[in-house]
Amino acid sequence: MDVQNQLQGTVAELTLKGKGILAADESQPTIAKRFKAIGLESSEENRRIYRSLLLTTPGIGEFLNGVILFEETLGQKADDGTPLPVVAQRAGIVPGIKVDKGTVALPGAPDDLVTQGLDGLAGRLADYKKKGARFAKWREVYVVSDHNPTALGVEANAEMLARYAATCQEQGMVPIVEPEVLLDGTHSLQRCAEVSESVLHAVFHALHRHHVMLEYMLLKPSMVLPGKDHPRKAHPEEVARETIKVLKRTVPAAVPSINFLSGGQTSAQATANLNALNALFPQSPWTLSFSYARALQQPVLEAWHGRPENVVNAQKSFHQRLTLTAAACRGAYRPNMEPAA
Ligand code: 13P
Repeated sequence: MDVQNQLQGTVAELTLKGKGILAADESQPTIAKRFKAIGLESSEENRRIYRSLLLTTPGIGEFLNGVILFEETLGQKADDGTPLPVVAQRAGIVPGIKVDKGTVALPGAPDDLVTQGLDGLAGRLADYKKKGARFAKWREVYVVSDHNPTALGVEANAEMLARYAATCQEQGMVPIVEPEVLLDGTHSLQRCAEVSESVLHAVFHALHRHHVMLEYMLLKPSMVLPGKDHPRKAHPEEVARETIKVLKRTVPAAVPSINFLSGGQTSAQATANLNALNALFPQSPWTLSFSYARALQQPVLEAWHGRPENVVNAQKSFHQRLTLTAAACRGAYRPNMEPAA
């Protein structure tokens, strides 16, 4: 199969309506942080057990088109010896892989960050593909302050995303392009909108310069939200309207799907906001879906606590979270569906 057909096939499977993507690609420091919060050591075996728990949850193929894995997970097996990427495939879920190597300070742009990992990327992608991955993810993060991101930060990060995406497409791997405007800070919703607009504008300009085929990529942006420490919280309808306004100004209609990250919102907030997007904008040119890590996994970690006797309950809570999040893809979620409501 030629590269274009591979990309086309994978995009078709990743964009089935009413379903989304699970991000289970926490880097070693991030998963260690999540495990520490439940009093669990981040050993290779505990990570295997946890990610097996997620992927072997019965019925999740009904809600998930894809799963983003961490490199280590590609080589791990479920208890019955089945490689975890195969477990996903058998459930009808396309396995993908996080390929960036995290952030460093960007010299010349105080307080801005830039993501590493381009060196040797083509070779790594070929290897991941042999192990079953069919799409990739790369995240750039943007700190918001009165001075950040700087113009240089916005340009440098866009360039990285575009070079990554072009390399993926050349290898027949669908790139998920993830520019995350961070939720941390006291900034207003309007400031987030302004930053998001300039970030996305630069990203799509760079994607164009690098000849990335927009039809064969997915965008994974943050929603337009006030900073976590801003005094006023935004209503889901307001979040949806501001988010769509920015996306319409910056994202070409050729992009098939926008799969939001949750970015530190609670599970209920991330679901309500995605629901408002779909309820208010059913005719949007892109599929509006999710690629959540924390908003899908937080309740699972809390139910599991690293104990074998809790696995069944943890899987139930994962299934329930997916049910609600998938309902939000159809605008059919209501807050009173929440377990605590
Ligand atoms: P969150 O949904 O927790 O923001 O994670 C998404 C992700 O993949 C971060 O890179």
